[in-house]
Amino acid sequence: MISQRVKELLADMSLEEKLGQMIQLQARYFCEEDTSELTGPGQKLEFVNEQIKYMGSVLNSKTAKQNITIQTQQMEKQPHHIPMLIMGDVIHGHATIFPIPLAIGATFNTEACKMACEISALECAVSGVHLTFSPMADLVRDSRWGRVMESYGEDPFLNSQMVKAAVEGYQGDSIKDFGKIASCVKHFAAYGASEAGREYNSVDMSEGTLREYYLPAYKCAVENGVKMVMTAFNIVDRVPMVANRHLLQDILYNEWKFKGVVISDFAAVYETIVHGYSKDRKQAAERAINAGCDIEMMSDTYLNYAEELISEGRVSIEQIDHAVGKILMLKEELGLFENPYKDASELNEKKYLLCDAHKKIARKISDQSIVLLENDGILPLKKDGLKIGIVGPFATSKHVFGAWAKENNQSVSLMEGINNVAPNNKTVAIINDELEARLTGFIDIKDSIHKDLETIKDCDVIIVAVGEHEKDSGEAASKVNLRLSENQEKLVYEAYKLEKPVIMVLFSGRPMEIGHLLPFTNAVLQGWFLGNEMGNALADVIFGDYNPSARLPITYPRSVGQLPLYYNAYNTGRPDLESNEKHMSKYIDCASTPLYPFGYGLSYSRFEYDNLRVVIEDDKIIAEIDVENKSGIKGKETVQCYVRDISGSVVRPVAELKAFQQIELNPYEKVSCKFLLTKEMLKFHNDQLEWVFESGEYEIMIGCNSSQTTKAKVIL
Ligand code: BGC
Repeated sequence: MISQRVKELLADMSLEEKLGQMIQLQARYFCEEDTSELTGPGQKLEFVNEQIKYMGSVLNSKTAKQNITIQTQQMEKQPHHIPMLIMGDVIHGHATIFPIPLAIGATFNTEACKMACEISALECAVSGVHLTFSPMADLVRDSRWGRVMESYGEDPFLNSQMVKAAVEGYQGDSIKDFGKIASCVKHFAAYGASEAGREYNSVDMSEGTLREYYLPAYKCAVENGVKMVMTAFNIVDRVPMVANRHLLQDILYNEWKFKGVVISDFAAVYETIVHGYSKDRKQAAERAINAGCDIEMMSDTYLNYAEELISEGRVSIEQIDHAVGKILMLKEELGLFENPYKDASELNEKKYLLCDAHKKIARKISDQSIVLLENDGILPLKKDGLKIGIVGPFATSKHVFGAWAKENNQSVSLMEGINNVAPNNKTVAIINDELEARLTGFIDIKDSIHKDLETIKDCDVIIVAVGEHEKDSGEAASKVNLRLSENQEKLVYEAYKLEKPVIMVLFSGRPMEIGHLLPFTNAVLQGWFLGNEMGNALADVIFGDYNPSARLPITYPRSVGQLPLYYNAYNTGRPDLESNEKHMSKYIDCASTPLYPFGYGLSYSRFEYDNLRVVIEDDKIIAEIDVENKSGIKGKETVQCYVRDISGSVVRPVAELKAFQQIELNPYEKVSCKFLLTKEMLKFHNDQLEWVFESGEYEIMIGCNSSQTTKAKVIL
């Protein structure tokens, strides 16, 4: 619905003004001092300075001062004084940096996700940012892809739950409210399926698979009122997403009834020429506008060619008015016509950005993100009387934010965290020279390991802090090798030789290949990149102030050669039964099972599952199971409920997560956990792509991860 104000504006605006609303440029075009990073190859933009006055939105301008200046200057120049929409990539925090999204996925706690996004929204809002390009709803099955760190993992259900929480956190009840911003879900669609995990690569899959796995999280964002959708760089079924009429028109607009604004990714309209789809800029504009891409980010085709296209009847003025109407309505919904600065305030920046209250919450969320992968009983450590050697490039590093985060000088290193939490222990850090990003050079530690380790052989325990540089995952950071650098691996082997317990802490934005290192360690923690409170949170877990509760949102391969690898796969006709039979679906040089399955993670407590009861009541499956804490330590368990549809009109996945519950159990406490599965929850796209429930036999699997479940069959 278009308001009266927007109707009147549309009636009065020139075509050039309208097209200006459909362009987004980086802040450097409006303000010479801007230093924000360019995220795309600089293609030459063809417009004259005079045209800048028409532009309707800014990318990545992130301080109140700059945003107030840009808004004031631009509105003065703008013929109708229309306020700018100020958008930014605030992916896991604006000033207070939270764990990377993959780590947030590991919390299995949607409230934690929502809270992080609420704080990000408040901090953005006072800095004058009106919209964030988050959440990223791309499902990922291949950790060679660098942007796996920005995703919530490999499962459509977990992904959707997290995306919903993020949208709610950013937008609240009304984006006009103080501290709220609009959210843009990205990258529609299936960018996470880039072939071979290579960045910006092609995507090709059946529509059944697309709808079953890849689309649900974007759809969930739309159903929960997300204001904007960003198209992906990739092609789907041979058509670049920015011009993909089937996905944009048929599915997003018509089927899902999306009423908001669609924006391209960085220069993606122009890049349809490079793909070999559009023959020139004019055709690129025609195809993207007609597919329903309302804003062109960082390319100039609309501005220069739309007028010609309209006069030739290839683009209609109604389509332009429709797009501009939606953009202006978003500005209206944000309240920008009354208050173009919205919540921007340097005073409030001082009050809220990186304030103690936000850091405190960041620490709690970080605690919940750390996955305990291995523990022979060495963890948790005692808080006094120990001498701890902390070795490796992340021992004292404060560069633990992860891609897309603006670094601040207030992060806590592992060493600092350990000293904060257990000041009565002694710590010594060695071999702590930092790695550099792969693109810029020095990517391994020096090999004086053997000699250096001699100096800490009197330590009681050794913490090996290893991983990949924080900028080696994220956009344009695909890899074919997921192992640690050579000398970091050597560090693990040499540390083991000291005959002291070795705890390996992994700093990474993706699952790494670590199976071969496990025999040389006593415990392993997946630390990810957690942002400001990294060291404190790791220490909370290491000393048992927080009993680890995180679970893997993505499968860990034994070997990079297994990728893509994921739990919710279709069965083959010859599944690997771990027999010695040759002609089965398996590798001859590696097991086909993962190193760690989806949903896996240990605790300091020990939980046991027993007595699964499954009944049908009123057309619903009711499944109940007893979960008992068999240890003397209070802990949180994530009880996971999977379903397998035994046969269908098309092949069905071997397991699908349908629900999960986090329960806190006192020592030796036993509770019964109940799940309710409706026919609606069991629907899928059949061979005609219709969304149906099919009656038949279902297997219900409840357990602590996707591989360890108790099973029962039922007919519905
Ligand atoms: C990324 C987007 C991002 C945009 C704007 C692109 O390169 O793919 O995720 O929002 O840049 O910075």
